Amino acid sequence: MLPKRRRTRVGSPGAAAPSAARFPGVAIYLAEPRMGRSRRAFLTRLALSKGFRVLDAYSPEVTHVVMEQTSAEEAICWQERRVAAFPPGCTHPALLDISWFTESMAAGQPVPVECRHRLEVAMPRKGLPSPVWMPSYACQRRTPLTHYNTSLSGPSLQEALETLAEAAGFEGSEGRFLSFCRAASVLKALPSPVTALSQLQGLPHFGEHSCRVVQELLEHGVCEEVERVRLSERYQTMKLFTQIFGVGVRTADRWYREGLRTLDDLRGQPQRLTQQQKAGLQHYQDLSALVQRPDLEALQQVVEAAVGQALPGATVTLTGGFRRGKLQGHDVDFLITHPEEGREAGLLPRVMCCLKKQGLVLYHQHHRSEDPTHLTQQSHTMDAFERSFCIFRLPQPPGSAVGGHQRPCPAWKAVRVDLVAVPISQFPFALLGWTGSRHFERELRRFSWKERGLLLNSHGLFDPEQKTFFHAASEEDIFRHLGLEYLPPEQRNA
Ligand code: CTP
Ligand code: MN
Ligand code: MN
Repeated sequence: MLPKRRRTRVGSPGAAAPSAARFPGVAIYLAEPRMGRSRRAFLTRLALSKGFRVLDAYSPEVTHVVMEQTSAEEAICWQERRVAAFPPGCTHPALLDISWFTESMAAGQPVPVECRHRLEVAMPRKGLPSPVWMPSYACQRRTPLTHYNTSLSGPSLQEALETLAEAAGFEGSEGRFLSFCRAASVLKALPSPVTALSQLQGLPHFGEHSCRVVQELLEHGVCEEVERVRLSERYQTMKLFTQIFGVGVRTADRWYREGLRTLDDLRGQPQRLTQQQKAGLQHYQDLSALVQRPDLEALQQVVEAAVGQALPGATVTLTGGFRRGKLQGHDVDFLITHPEEGREAGLLPRVMCCLKKQGLVLYHQHHRSEDPTHLTQQSHTMDAFERSFCIFRLPQPPGSAVGGHQRPCPAWKAVRVDLVAVPISQFPFALLGWTGSRHFERELRRFSWKERGLLLNSHGLFDPEQKTFFHAASEEDIFRHLGLEYLPPEQRNA
């Protein structure tokens, strides 16, 4: 797959100011959102070469704003956000489609602005209750943890779509899986609940199938297809099996096809199980109960102590769902690094050794670091850091209630923990990559490749044309380099 637009090197942004403009009444601003950075740079050079004045920043001086693949709603929304900061009384520039720009370039001078060039009037408003502009990629929009399309009674629209996504994933239907994931994710980013089908108009990723599901739910409160899936033996068994630590879709599918249905069926066939799966089954009950914040704090303390002991100066950073603000999760994810490059090598085994001595480790599977130069655009490619997927034995404070009842409480519970050792030079990429959500990461990588021609993973950002890696000191640097607004972790719950 080739990126839509190949990346081209451009001069510094300041280069956009020409020495002498031939058309003093015209100051163009090329709006980037749909245009992409390299195309914008190309169009800027073209206009400059023809003597146009092109401004790099949006200001009251701009007379012509040029946009590409942008609807009237989006354009107006875009402008409203920007002119808010301008002094009162400023005249607003014309919002123009790229056609005005290309015609002007062809003519070698600015052509008169006609109605058909204007974005504000190009698309009639179709009386939508409240048209919402929603960018296409999840990494271009804010997705908070709690959103407006959750439901207190019964499954929400978003959960229904996620069930269908999950079911498609179980069948290996990647395309359907992604379509439903994307539609569900759009719902999470909406500023209000969907109450009428017409509100889906103009939203990205709402195909015929997802619209039908929403329509049924809005009209009848249930969707027949979702209910059928939810109650099916196939879905329930696949869900049960894939929830086991160490079991992926392929293994679960094989077991299902061989007639296995329950955890006891699996326990009766220990020869089929890996050590990891055996541990997963053994602690199934504890692990399927979610990790809570107090558990996380206790874990962070023991991990920090062990890391500090194994290598003074090494640091522990919380990542994964808890960094996004979740109150509970299926595991706890930590990144370990050291401010001096290379010192993190071999650190993880020492940390594990220290934790084991304290009797805190029920199971762990160590992965040595590999050569990370195999950067590909596949979002599922595991990264190559040294890492440990563990089950910890977390002591429980005496008297803590279980399930709301004051039962004789167990002295400990099994908790899943992921530990990843990262060289400091790759830390911002690892932090960004491990913070998730999974859908956010998928979208960010897709955006990088399709819109910027760059390969992103948890190790770095690679320009295949220039054969260079981008150095980043922070997550902010990476967003900036991709031309994306920075989203804090709490807004990455896509
Ligand atoms: N991840 C990864 N490589 C793995 C496992 C996970 O890069 N082998 C990344 C995923 O992109 C994911 C993040 O690490 O976004 C966290 O993964 P995970 O713990 O599975 O999900 P959470 O978002 O933390 O959700 P939960 O609270 O259920 O743990
Ligand atoms: Mn996690
Ligand atoms: Mn994890």
